[in-house]
Amino acid sequence: MKSMKSGAEHVPCVKVEKIRGEDIRSALKDRNLLRTDVRITSDDKFVYLPLIRALTEDEIRGIGAEELLRRDFAVLEERKSIEDTAGFKPSYEVIGDIAVLTEVLNEREEQLVAQALMDLHKNIKVVAKRISPVEGVFRTRKLELIAGENRTETIHREHGCTYKLDLEKVYFNPRLAGERNRVAAQLERTKEEEIIDMFAGVGAFSIQLAKRAPQSHVTAIDINPDAIRYLEENIRLNGVRNIDAVEGDIKEIYVKFRNTADRIIMNLPKSAYLFLHEALSMLKPQGGIIHFYDLESAYPEEGEEKHKTVEKAITKAKEKFMAQVQELGRGESVEIQEARKVKPYAPYAYIIGIDAAIT
Ligand SMILES: C[S@@+](CC[C@H](N)C(=O)[O-])C[C@H]1O[C@@H](n2cnc3c(N)ncnc32)[C@H](O)[C@@H]1O
Repeated sequence: MKSMKSGAEHVPCVKVEKIRGEDIRSALKDRNLLRTDVRITSDDKFVYLPLIRALTEDEIRGIGAEELLRRDFAVLEERKSIEDTAGFKPSYEVIGDIAVLTEVLNEREEQLVAQALMDLHKNIKVVAKRISPVEGVFRTRKLELIAGENRTETIHREHGCTYKLDLEKVYFNPRLAGERNRVAAQLERTKEEEIIDMFAGVGAFSIQLAKRAPQSHVTAIDINPDAIRYLEENIRLNGVRNIDAVEGDIKEIYVKFRNTADRIIMNLPKSAYLFLHEALSMLKPQGGIIHFYDLESAYPEEGEEKHKTVEKAITKAKEKFMAQVQELGRGESVEIQEARKVKPYAPYAYIIGIDAAIT
């Protein structure tokens, strides 16, 4: 973590439109070109991203930045970490301005971590802990507040999108950010697609896809009225016009969308299999792409390395998916384009993502 150190440095930087700032910041970071020891600055329209070195014209074009400049940036210095302050490394995730502890601690440890989090991260206004698993049809969990303001509603920002949500009333997982970005990156800016997000929640996939491909249209469906209420607000907050939010049980309302979709997102990992019939019926007769998420576990044989369990879980997910599609009479028309671990879920259990082309 960094805090301000007195002084500034004159540094090469790229000027980027604010709306594309987060994407270009991550692209620079991935290429080890971003300076992280000085503070990024912005004005009304642009963000200025400090660079390790001046970029070539081709590099600037390649990452989609506007122009190369030199500017003064305030120098940051290393500050104490949560580990230094609390005395151990706690596990937590941050959604908007709420930090949620993701491991069980005793009361004294909780207070220590909560205080350290709020002292060191001025943007954290609430600290909470999980007191139930993700459960029920709405896939929500209960939280208990430990410190800070008395609320579970927040505004989370991810890849240039803004999501307002209540952590107890809707599902939201910040660790799927990379996966959402990966799917969005598959959209072409010129091709008009009809996309159906079958289990849309507050619109985490839908809004990013709609922003990335404004010529396409997204139908975002969810059974949870609170998720739809936030989704509608998020559509307004993000200024996207090419999304329709639809409240309802996909088992019933899929009939309205038969033969309409080029691309379908099925992010309901524990039971997406139960909805494959509906997904296949919503694809256009000429076919399309399904992004399917599954929860699979696999255990190591004696002496087997742990990473083998990921491969086994991926194989299980692919086999289950193919068997289900075959049972629905579409086996010969499916090609699994990619299957990968999206994130760990529990020891030896993983969320597996499958991209399948149906023709
Ligand atoms: C795992 S969450 C995914 C939310 C969202 N895609 C995201 O990435 O944040 C699954 C969502 O499916 C919704 N859901 C569950 N069963 C449903 C059904 N039968 N019809 C429509 N939505 C459903 C839940 O309310 C929940 O919001």
